[in-house]
Amino acid sequence: KHQNVRPVCGRNAHHSVARAAWLLGLPAPVVVGCEGERMSAEALGEVLRTTGPAVVVATAGTTDTGDIDPLREIARVCREHGARLHVDASYGGLALCSARLRPLLDGLAEADSVALDLHKFGWQPIASGLFAVRDAADLAALNVQAEYLNADDDTEAGLPDLLGRSIRTSRRPDAFRMAVTMRALGLHGMGELIERCCATAREVADAIRRHPGLELRGEPTLSTMLFRPVSGDVAEVRRALLESGTAIIGRATLPPGEVWLKLTLLHPHATAADYQGLLDTVAATARAGAAIAS
Ligand SMILES: Cc1ncc(COP(=O)(O)O)c(C=O)c1O
Repeated sequence: KHQNVRPVCGRNAHHSVARAAWLLGLPAPVVVGCEGERMSAEALGEVLRTTGPAVVVATAGTTDTGDIDPLREIARVCREHGARLHVDASYGGLALCSARLRPLLDGLAEADSVALDLHKFGWQPIASGLFAVRDAADLAALNVQAEYLNADDDTEAGLPDLLGRSIRTSRRPDAFRMAVTMRALGLHGMGELIERCCATAREVADAIRRHPGLELRGEPTLSTMLFRPVSGDVAEVRRALLESGTAIIGRATLPPGEVWLKLTLLHPHATAADYQGLLDTVAATARAGAAIAS
């Protein structure tokens, strides 16, 4: 019956949504347009009017810009059309730890399922993904018994039965690192460090805006910002920095095909001043490139 379920996601969704659909034997996702860099709830409504059974994937913290889709409106549209809602909150979801940032995720609790990842706000190496569902019955299929792993008599004798706790069976104990992080820092501690990253991002964005050699593309919602040198070929500047071993800077191409440099600030103890040298280097590299080209 899953063959009839249509995945639907925003233009801003991560490519893993299409891969997951392929892996599950589902049709390719219907891609919904954005307003700015956030999925348009209105466009989603139009799509759901004609798709039939659907699972909608919204994003809280997009890969390119760190934007958060309008989750409450999207949840309402999904309810109206009987569609399931999954939120890819890999990046932004941990903002829940901060009372100040939590309103950004308004509507997240309406989702049927949420993906979180501690590899950004959580400071863990990959793999650090978590999958949460609102209704535990959705995970009932994981409650299997495999005699070689969780025989009843072993479980009754006190051996831990972890089989139902992860989707993959053979895996590294990723949950342990995550549990230690959360226990050691606590919700408040995590929230404070995440707030610092976001506050520093706003300061660095300010520094970019003030920089005569750089252009900022929009205020950061979380800790990601896009910028570019005012002159020179952006992709070439990035490669020059990479090839000279100076800096590895992210990139994003946003419509209409414009290349931007991307910073995602995740070091809670770095200050805006720590990034000034990098900004100057980007601007100087662009100037040098432009001088050679002319
Ligand atoms: C928003 C978002 N979702 C999903 C992923 C992919 O996660 P994974 O590489 O674990 O499939 C990324 C990658 O960083 C991402 O930024």
